[in-house]
Amino acid sequence: MELFRVTGGTPLVGEVTVSGAKNSVLKLMAASLLVEGRTVLTNVPRILDVTIMSEVLRRLGCEAALEGDTLTIDVPAVPGTEADYNLVRRMRASINVLGPLLARRGEVRVPHPGGDAIGSRGLDYHIAGLERMGAEITSEHGFVVARASRLHGARIWLDFPSVGATENILMAAVLAKGTTVIDNAAREPDIVDICSMLKEMGAEISGAGTSTLEIEGVEELRPVTHRTVPDRIVSGTWAFAAAITQGDIIVRRGEPRHLEIALDKLNQAGAHIDLLDPMQPGEGFRVRMDRRPKAVDIVTLPYPGFATDMLPMAITLGAVADGPSMVTENVFDARFMFINEMLRLGADVRTDGHHAVVRGKTWLSGAPVKATDIRAGVGLVIAGLRADGVTEVADAFHIDRGYPDFLSQMRGLGATIERIKVEDDEFPAV
Ligand code: UD1
Repeated sequence: MELFRVTGGTPLVGEVTVSGAKNSVLKLMAASLLVEGRTVLTNVPRILDVTIMSEVLRRLGCEAALEGDTLTIDVPAVPGTEADYNLVRRMRASINVLGPLLARRGEVRVPHPGGDAIGSRGLDYHIAGLERMGAEITSEHGFVVARASRLHGARIWLDFPSVGATENILMAAVLAKGTTVIDNAAREPDIVDICSMLKEMGAEISGAGTSTLEIEGVEELRPVTHRTVPDRIVSGTWAFAAAITQGDIIVRRGEPRHLEIALDKLNQAGAHIDLLDPMQPGEGFRVRMDRRPKAVDIVTLPYPGFATDMLPMAITLGAVADGPSMVTENVFDARFMFINEMLRLGADVRTDGHHAVVRGKTWLSGAPVKATDIRAGVGLVIAGLRADGVTEVADAFHIDRGYPDFLSQMRGLGATIERIKVEDDEFPAV
């Protein structure tokens, strides 16, 4: 087992460059299945989840090679129809092969991904949407099995603007016969990104970035080269890290227009936020905090609300802020599991349902803790920087899933951090 050992006390100061979004590129990789031939994705982050998704594609008969930040995917004329159980179990995003393979092959078997450490994550919206388009879907021995000779357009309402369901239905609809309308669709930049790629491939889609997507099915698509949108969660993580550690970070290629509420919260907390180039906001921004943050209330919601993936950063900010703050989680039922680890660091947090009341302290207290998911892991490392003494964050692999070059980026910002391999029983039970 590997852990990050962090010594607290140093503000993060310097520059980081943000690469493409994990939550976008995994779906763009799934979209490559919609067409035979070579799809090239650029600005691809070098993270474990891209490695896992590449393996999902290989087991479906594709070739996938990452060189630098360019991922080349070669899709055969007849890709496989069964996704690997162990890979899907390791990474929920692999469920996104369901829509494209159903559209392309008329049959697909995907293992049920189950829940994970942030909460139960259903598939009912994905299934109901595809059924409306004419698919027959059953659950067989742990697999979701979908069949459809040719999908047809349909009018679909989502009970909640689910990102994954919007993507699966969208990818099925681009090759369906007729018009599909998705109401209460997700509006995340990841959705806009996949819509852009599909349109470049020849799909007919309108309404990207709004709650209503309209898709006119086409007979076939063509493979393209596409640049992945920058990672707003990674950008937001660095922005919060600057505020929490009372540092000064330049976030190159961070897109402030995808982080409006998060940056506004930091502003209310007392941070100074400047665009690197006001004429081109996508060049990035700088976050400086020269005092203890003021407490701010934060509520997670689907985009453009404050992202649920940033919840650990919101709690950590509250834990070191001046005054009490209320943090409300509205997307995943078990995201607060991470708070147990924050308590080990001496944070004063009480939860009631999906609300957490956080009373800030000047310093936390270093302790052994455990990463329960990607974002919780990073939140704990950042909390460790604002803790007295040494914090060890076990299960470092979670962070590898979503943060490229995490150790060197942290060190580049002045953090005292190392990555250590330990035998499992050397680490105290957590
Ligand atoms: C979610 C986040 C997304 C984030 C991603 C990775 C939201 C709205 N979505 O996307 O921003 O990048 O995690 O961490 O913030 N649900 C159902 N049935 C379904 C589908 C979803 O009940 O068929 C529920 C889920 O349990 C959850 C909510 O809807 O409570 C949002 O899920 P969804 O957006 O689909 O999750 P992801 O696509 O994983």
